[in-house]
Amino acid sequence: MLNFLKKDPILAIEDYDFTAFKQVLNTPAENIISDIKTADLKGRGGAGFPAGVKWELARKEKSAEKYVVCNADEGEPGTFKDRYLLENSPWQVLEGILISAYVIGAEKGYIYIRGEYVKPIKIFNKIIEKAEKKGLLGENILGSEFDFELELIRGAGAYICGDETSLLNSIEGQRPRSRIKPPYPIQSGLYGKPTLVNNVETLAAAVEIINQGVETYTALGTAESNGTKLISLSGEVNEPGVYEIEFGSLTIREIVEQLGKGIRNNGQLKFVVPGGVSTSILPQEKLDIPYSYEDIKAAGSNTGSGAMIVVSEENDLIDLMLNVAEFFMSETCGTCFPCREGIRQVCYLLENAKERGYLTQRDFELITDLSQTTYLAARCGLGQSSLNFVTSVLEHYRDELLQGGGQ
Ligand code: NAI
Repeated sequence: MLNFLKKDPILAIEDYDFTAFKQVLNTPAENIISDIKTADLKGRGGAGFPAGVKWELARKEKSAEKYVVCNADEGEPGTFKDRYLLENSPWQVLEGILISAYVIGAEKGYIYIRGEYVKPIKIFNKIIEKAEKKGLLGENILGSEFDFELELIRGAGAYICGDETSLLNSIEGQRPRSRIKPPYPIQSGLYGKPTLVNNVETLAAAVEIINQGVETYTALGTAESNGTKLISLSGEVNEPGVYEIEFGSLTIREIVEQLGKGIRNNGQLKFVVPGGVSTSILPQEKLDIPYSYEDIKAAGSNTGSGAMIVVSEENDLIDLMLNVAEFFMSETCGTCFPCREGIRQVCYLLENAKERGYLTQRDFELITDLSQTTYLAARCGLGQSSLNFVTSVLEHYRDELLQGGGQ
């Protein structure tokens, strides 16, 4: 039962019935949490942390003031599935926010939308206005004891704000640099208070679980990946776009061939980046695995945010690596030395390699060394994952990249 993509854009609040939220208002919060835990909903922003566990921990925090934040600062290159949900299922996203707030006991929430997402921002501003008028936001929501206020924050174009702690700093009006974890936001988040940060798709999926029932939801997928996932398919395919698939129902190669309709201009598939440019690539010989958390992990990468970027034999590997490294160089917040300088040095080495047309043995050694240091010493996910793409391309295409084909 695939749901997200069947929906038409709904803007009239009268056409959306908030069935899951109404059910939640009449159910003990512990039961809702237990359902989300049983469904084993993994965070869809990229890290895959169990959402039910996060909700439970947030609920248990003893504080009169708690916050929920919907992370819609979708910045990972190749990821555009949250934009799809914000534009096409905004009420469902709002419903997910309301449910999470009710369950953990928060009275104030934020939706932080990437600044470039002009249309979703317009839509969500309208959604908030309409919901306030209809009594779905404000005091005594739908006649219950539940009070909740939602504010939209427009991002200002910094990738780092997709990192939850930088995002919280940004909401507070501070420079958006990451905070050291732990403490996690559920312990000390916005203004030092317990804060539940969830990705757009995670919240929309929670609504599906409540509507469909846990059994129906968990009947979908594989042993460790329940339900469905939105994939942002891009790169050298004939039909890029957002697709929803049941976990395990297609292999990576089938996604490229059946959903993406193969490689453009009758080209040859070279490799696939399964979860956005902060994940490692999957080469040809690893593309016949089912799309699931466990299979992609076993193959040496990560589902990440579900941004599947397809690379063909036509693409220049040094160009690609430089492009990705330059992205991270411009997006590092610059606070920690390994991330700021490590990525810059890798860019420098790749620029020289581009001019030369190949990499030297010394380039390989230096880039590998810099990547390891950056991975180990960077203070947040941005730095730690910034060179996964580059190092995995080096690992799999060493002979092709070295002068003389590595002979
Ligand atoms: P993380 O593993 O540190 O945390 C994931 C979530 O679980 C966070 O909300 C964190 O607070 C929570 N958490 C983790 N351990 C916890 C514990 N022991 N107790 C309570 N809460 C806990 O990962 P992070 O750095 O938040 O996200 C990294 C991922 O983000 C990457 O894998 C990447 O794929 C993805 N990403 C997505 C982007 C997008 O545009 N969707 C952009 C950039 C990265």
